[in-house]
Amino acid sequence: MNHELDWEQRLTDTLKTVARRQDIKSYVELTPWLNRLLRRAAGQYVAGENRQDGLAATRRLADMGYKISLEYIGENTLDAKMCQAAVEEMKSLIRELGEIGDRVSFDLSHIGLSVKKDLAYRQLMKLADEARTANVELFVSMEESAKTDLILDTYQKAVAHYPNIGITLQAHLHRTPMDLAVLSDSPRLIRIVKGAYQEPATHALSRSSELDERYLTLVQDAIHRGHRVSIATHDERIINEAIHLGLLDSGSAEFEMLYGIRPELSAKLQSAGYPVRIYVTYGREWFLYLCHRIAEYPPNLYRAVADMASDEAVEPYRAYIRAPKE
Ligand code: FDA
Repeated sequence: MNHELDWEQRLTDTLKTVARRQDIKSYVELTPWLNRLLRRAAGQYVAGENRQDGLAATRRLADMGYKISLEYIGENTLDAKMCQAAVEEMKSLIRELGEIGDRVSFDLSHIGLSVKKDLAYRQLMKLADEARTANVELFVSMEESAKTDLILDTYQKAVAHYPNIGITLQAHLHRTPMDLAVLSDSPRLIRIVKGAYQEPATHALSRSSELDERYLTLVQDAIHRGHRVSIATHDERIINEAIHLGLLDSGSAEFEMLYGIRPELSAKLQSAGYPVRIYVTYGREWFLYLCHRIAEYPPNLYRAVADMASDEAVEPYRAYIRAPKE
């Protein structure tokens, strides 16, 4: 048995479980020293806690020539008033984006899906209206498979009125090729990701060459069906293969990567002339986000520990201008 892999898998499983534990999240929020320490580690992946932090990182990256998606982080909000507060924050974000960004992303469970399906739909319609006025695209993220039907139904109903709404599809789910076919009555905005949530084998593939193949087939299929596609991955082999297959030549695909992850790869692709979008996040709900980023790549734990021990401010955006190594 490969013990190193075994430990990595255990760390991944543990962090994904920890991320879901409300009691642990509350403890982190209410324990100042722990909160301060973990916030430093989160600084690698999250631009800050406030809208101004998100907008400042967006401005710096836009000045370097990247396109941006912005997310005010949050999910599984159970209180209708908090959902309303999140919608107000997103509306302000849409209004203040101006020239520096054209896309806002979010989880439907942040704006009402976990309270009532109809609430998420109504809030999505309000946001889409605000976004249309500001010439901004909205992107709906994809959550656990238990919510996939609800998310797709809500999206389908709303996009019929507002074509400025995009949807994220998870390549790891067995159902996704079918979902893509069903969505395809007219050109849409589609983001394809591998999938961040732990799912049973009956529902999803785990990380494997089979998943990578399915990922590329989905991207090809989506482009072929006339959609505008975000190839949202940090997997260099998939990125190289997408370039090799000419998937970027159509002009309807772009690469999209999370803020703070593989910035040297984003810089390399950008200087080679490919369209690259950076997904910037901000907000106070960074704990779950941090757990996901370490879980999907356990060596990030070393970086997190070093950041916690350091007094220096973390400024990951600096790495985006590093000269690419040949
Ligand atoms: P994979 O996890 O297979 O890793 C391949 C390689 O990429 C690794 O070997 C490493 O080199 C690098 N890498 C990957 N993750 C890294 C990390 N955290 N740190 C450093 N290097 C890393 N998921 C979801 O379920 N719903 C959603 O709505 C979204 N939305 C979304 C938007 C965008 C723009 C992106 C880029 C990703 C998402 N995701 C998501 C997350 C996605 O499902 C997936 O978990 C991560 O992108 C990691 O998978 P990769 O495709 O990068 O490859």
